[in-house]
Amino acid sequence: MEYNFETAPDRRGTESVKWDLYPGTLPLWVADMDFPAAPEILEALRRRLDHGVFGYELIPDDYYTCMDRWFTQRHGWKGIGRSTIVPTTGVIAAYSAAIKATTRPGGKVLVMTPCYNAFFPAIRNNKCEQLESPLKFDGKQYIVDWDDFERKCREADVFLLCNPHNPVGRVWTREELLLMATICERNGVFVVSDEIHCELTYPGHDYTPWATLPEAFVRRSVTCFSPTKSFNLAGIQIANIYAADPDVLAKMDRAINDNECCDVNVFGVAALKAAYSQGGPWLDALRQYLYHNARTVSCFLEDEMPQVNVPPLEGTYLMWLDCRALAGPDQPLEGLSERFGRHLREKHGLTLSDGSIYGAAGEGFMRLNIACPRTRLLDALQRFQEGWNSFQAVE
Ligand SMILES: Cc1ncc(COP(=O)(O)O)c(C=O)c1O
Repeated sequence: MEYNFETAPDRRGTESVKWDLYPGTLPLWVADMDFPAAPEILEALRRRLDHGVFGYELIPDDYYTCMDRWFTQRHGWKGIGRSTIVPTTGVIAAYSAAIKATTRPGGKVLVMTPCYNAFFPAIRNNKCEQLESPLKFDGKQYIVDWDDFERKCREADVFLLCNPHNPVGRVWTREELLLMATICERNGVFVVSDEIHCELTYPGHDYTPWATLPEAFVRRSVTCFSPTKSFNLAGIQIANIYAADPDVLAKMDRAINDNECCDVNVFGVAALKAAYSQGGPWLDALRQYLYHNARTVSCFLEDEMPQVNVPPLEGTYLMWLDCRALAGPDQPLEGLSERFGRHLREKHGLTLSDGSIYGAAGEGFMRLNIACPRTRLLDALQRFQEGWNSFQAVE
């Protein structure tokens, strides 16, 4: 089947967070896509709707078998099944419960910044302390500062990993993950890996599931994952926690129950099964389209705005634009992302995510969501360039 990503429905006035929070602007911020879900998923949801009864449901066996087949075939990750999975309502609920299950109030949770902004409240809400190991940007790409990472691991109880990493777009290599795992193991740090972006990778960058590392590392870890990001189902709310070790799984089950987020949406179950059993061709077409969108942004910036550095996108549909050149040589960066973001929104009708919400290491950056038709993206790039020029004039 041919899939069309060149057009997308009008989402204005549909209570969409992305479109209706800053009305009248072109919103390329919140991490959902403007494309409708795959026809195969829509059909499965229609069938479920037509049944007409939406009472409490058990989770069927094929919920697990379709995930197992998908992850074994596409990613070489074996072992997903009823005895290794706790379903829940979302990936945030999943990693928050995992932090609760593996720390005590006052425990320390390590993140590599800039990182997904909803990591921070989950750490706070569990009464834990946040430790940060800032990633290093060498002007081309983000890399782990291994000495700093090891130093922070000496203090940490849990390492909350984002694999692939939102917002910097890295797809961690097996070598990098092995080194993280070795350091965590050496320091007794439990690993919680958020792999919600796992399907969205681009040529030359394969996703390595944490669960495919050697068994000794996997035992002291959990993986939180969901089809909602890659299949654009975020409002449907379904996710899973994987634990290879039965004792760890029992702890996760306890925490998910303590947090009262163990009952999942019947539409979530139907959508997940359709995604993992029939969604492959749509997903592969989407990845190609997004890859060309990423190339479009990189080429535009190279040609028109070489002062904006953008690390090559390895995964996710979120591009990380280095706007620090907007600050003069002697000017502090503080507040730059917020001011530039407001200027783009108010004067040029473009909403991007302010890089500083991802931690102090994100100051001076903006995050751009490229999951929209290319015409919309080109419009955004035009507004971005005009906004850049007029911001320089007013600052
Ligand atoms: C890394 C990461 N984790 C979790 C989420 C949210 O997951 P959920 O909506 O399933 O709670 C997002 C959404 O952008 C994300 O980027």
